[in-house]
Amino acid sequence: MTHRDKRIRALSPVYFVHVYETRTNQSLQKHYLMVKQSSSMDTHTKVVIIGAGIFGLTTAYQLALEGYKNIVVLDRHVPPTPDASSNDISRVIRFDYADGDYLDLAHEAYLEWSSSPRFKDCFSRAPIVVAGTSGANGALYLQAAAAQLTKRSLPWTKLRDANAARKAFPSLKGPLAKTPFIGYFNENCGWADASKTLVQLRDDCLSLGVSFICGPAGMVTSLDTDNGSRNIIAARTLAGDVVQGNFFILAAGAWSSSLVSMYNSVLATGQVLGYMRLTDAEMQAYRNIPIYLNLSTGWFNFPPHDDTKLLKFAIHGWGYTRSTDIPRGGVQADGETRLRDGLRETYPELADRPFERTAVCWYSDTPSGDFIMDYHPDYTNLFVGGAGSGHAFKFTPVLGKYMSLAIKKKLPPAMRDKWRFRTEHLGKGIDVFKGDGSRGGPARRELCQDERAELERGPRVKL
Ligand SMILES: Cc1cc2nc3c(=O)[nH]c(=O)nc-3n(C[C@H](O)[C@H](O)[C@H](O)COP(=O)(O)OP(=O)(O)OC[C@H]3O[C@@H](n4cnc5c(N)ncnc54)[C@H](O)[C@@H]3O)c2cc1C
Ligand SMILES: *[C@@H]1O[C@H](CO)[C@@H](O)[C@H](O)[C@H]1NC(C)=O
Ligand SMILES: *[C@@H]1O[C@H](CO)[C@@H](O)[C@H](O)[C@H]1NC(C)=O
Repeated sequence: MTHRDKRIRALSPVYFVHVYETRTNQSLQKHYLMVKQSSSMDTHTKVVIIGAGIFGLTTAYQLALEGYKNIVVLDRHVPPTPDASSNDISRVIRFDYADGDYLDLAHEAYLEWSSSPRFKDCFSRAPIVVAGTSGANGALYLQAAAAQLTKRSLPWTKLRDANAARKAFPSLKGPLAKTPFIGYFNENCGWADASKTLVQLRDDCLSLGVSFICGPAGMVTSLDTDNGSRNIIAARTLAGDVVQGNFFILAAGAWSSSLVSMYNSVLATGQVLGYMRLTDAEMQAYRNIPIYLNLSTGWFNFPPHDDTKLLKFAIHGWGYTRSTDIPRGGVQADGETRLRDGLRETYPELADRPFERTAVCWYSDTPSGDFIMDYHPDYTNLFVGGAGSGHAFKFTPVLGKYMSLAIKKKLPPAMRDKWRFRTEHLGKGIDVFKGDGSRGGPARRELCQDERAELERGPRVKL
């Protein structure tokens, strides 16, 4: 099923038409949804959006497109915010998903990434090799993703064994995997320059008249309700300002839980990243490497990044937990070993080279790996968008449209259920965070004190 949600035109100030296409390999159906804006949300409503990551910016852009005239985005920093989850040199844009709904959505987004002039300078195509070890962690996810692609007649190519993978992609010189190897490749994949994407989203918002308040005057410290009611009237900021509004959207990523109770439905998990500097000759030699994802360990790489000449790899794993949020910092020794192990299997010639930089960056995970796009249960006019669970970036081109539908309570039922704000995990601890089956490698663990101290000292250079 592909949802292609296009606002054709505003019928009147209070109606919008959203078009969905639902697709199977047999048929294509169009659905029209007439959306009436709720009476509490008309185009003169003052909308205050807290957080200028992809959730906040795409929502601001979408609402502005729909004619909302009074939107202000608040952030600790001018976007691209350096330590936002949405910001880095790169993010994988794949639609290989075990879950059919996310696959459709990611495919819809991929088509935009690869064709829209807005994302022309942000997106690069690259094939993805999705590989795993039969019977191990991630194998079920891989098989389900391939089956979902087949069901939609989307092409993919099975890789019989590691030899077949090396033949298809000669740059992969390592052993890749001991048998039993399972894997396939999908030519329709790529990566986005995340920082450039944020700049594009920010400028698109500015061109539609969205206001921004950044820095201490944009850093929200608390929300004021109307005399203890459930209605929020203002956001208070670090600078001591009071930003009044009628409708509030909390899109503060991993920081959201510092402003309201998230009912044990989000957990910040630290994930390791490594960057290596390439010479000009190596930039050429590695130019066409695929994105290789070992689902059993979560290890994956990006093709080289032209502007920085860095080669990046990361682990999509269970991660590290830490009771309080912290900025990016140095990677843990075991994380570094895992990064090097992955290189040894794929590009062994690089396995012992010093890293330019390593980092821990924070996912905002939910128990099921689903995002949150729903009203906060404690308030009447607070909408929460986020909990990207390590995979939201690729949805950037379509995220705002779904946020807007969710705000109007018009999401397709499957998405409404996936993205509802869950209160049932409250008091159940972190064992409820089981993910979506895509995480590899060792179990999640808490950082010890030494490691925390080290992280606080900041990025480690040239390990
Ligand atoms: C290391 C890493 C790798 C990833 N890789 C991929 C990938 O390859 N593909 C993919 O699709 N997805 C990936 N993701 C997931 C994706 O990047 C995130 O899900 C997404 O960017 C989250 O966006 P956000 O808007 O919710 O949060 P953020 O980008 O973190 O934005 C939140 C914003 O809120 C602001 N803020 C916080 N507190 C306050 C406050 N009190 N007042 C004002 N402003 C505040 C912050 O400054 C920040 O700008 C990855 C994530 C990480 C961390
Ligand atoms: C994934 O990594 C593990 C651990 O390094 C390795 O044993 C396995 O063979 C790898 N599989 C693939 C397909 O790369
Ligand atoms: C809030 O409550 C106080 C004390 O009960 C009252 O004086 C004030 O007028 C109320 N404000 C509003 C906006 O209702």
